Amino acid sequence: MKVRRAIIPAAGLGTRFLPATKALPKEMLPIVNKPTIQFIVEEAKASGIEDILIVTGKNKRAIENHFDSNPELEQDLEKTGKSGLLKLTQEITDLGVNLYYTRQPYPAGLGDAVYRARSFVAGEPFVIMLGDDLMKDKVPLAKQLINDYDKTHASTIAVMKVPHKEVSKYGVIAPDGNIAPDLYNVKNFVEKPAVDKAPSDLAIIGRYLLTPEIFDILEHQKSGRGGEIQLTDAIDTMNKTQRVFAHVFKGERFDVGNKEGYLETSIQYGLIHPETRDALRKYIKELGKKL
Ligand code: G1P
Repeated sequence: MKVRRAIIPAAGLGTRFLPATKALPKEMLPIVNKPTIQFIVEEAKASGIEDILIVTGKNKRAIENHFDSNPELEQDLEKTGKSGLLKLTQEITDLGVNLYYTRQPYPAGLGDAVYRARSFVAGEPFVIMLGDDLMKDKVPLAKQLINDYDKTHASTIAVMKVPHKEVSKYGVIAPDGNIAPDLYNVKNFVEKPAVDKAPSDLAIIGRYLLTPEIFDILEHQKSGRGGEIQLTDAIDTMNKTQRVFAHVFKGERFDVGNKEGYLETSIQYGLIHPETRDALRKYIKELGKKL
């Protein structure tokens, strides 16, 4: 079955970025001039996804507005001859994917947010894309997972090696031998283990391809770490009755979910963006002499 649908959970409170996120969704924080969630929607589109459900919450209206048209702004840009900016603005509404929205009323965990997509997914395999991780590779990561699915017809979770001291920030896998160079069988999935208890340094990095049976498990999932319904726990349960593989991502990952990662990503993307790269490079070189 073709993988056509994606879920983007975007209901988090964004407390790591307060006070910026008091009224602004963290998904709307820009990297140079593009909100982080737009990168995720573009990755979905480039991966062949047709329908996206964004699970939002209170204070998230700006996300819907961003992907909607803005006739007043567009008229003004047209009148003042700013055709480049007009194109940039209109492209967002013309992405060629269908966007749907639903709300998670209480922050009850990632598993709960995903469960809200049950009827949207309607019994098909689907992708989950978390907004805190921007991925760069020749083939978009969501597409890499879809390519795996086309061969295995099984769920596959993207993982990446992280420094050992950081494992407790992630879901971590216990690998159990590989069936292809980057595709592992998994013994267990553990949500945020203590550093000395982690079964490996392979962390779940925010892209999942799941079969719809996950919803039968999420429906009865008890709360786990932090008192929240954890997606990782449901995946671990599913792995006992059907195969769930781990795909080791070899591209570049930018973690925009914390202040330091966000600033680093802004610099990296600023060094590529045609309007900022030259001036920024010069500035960083001069700054480096002073530091
Ligand atoms: C979530 C998942 C975790 C995963 C991480 C990736 O955690 O629960 O398993 O490793 O995303 O970013 P969160 O960062 O929302 O606490």
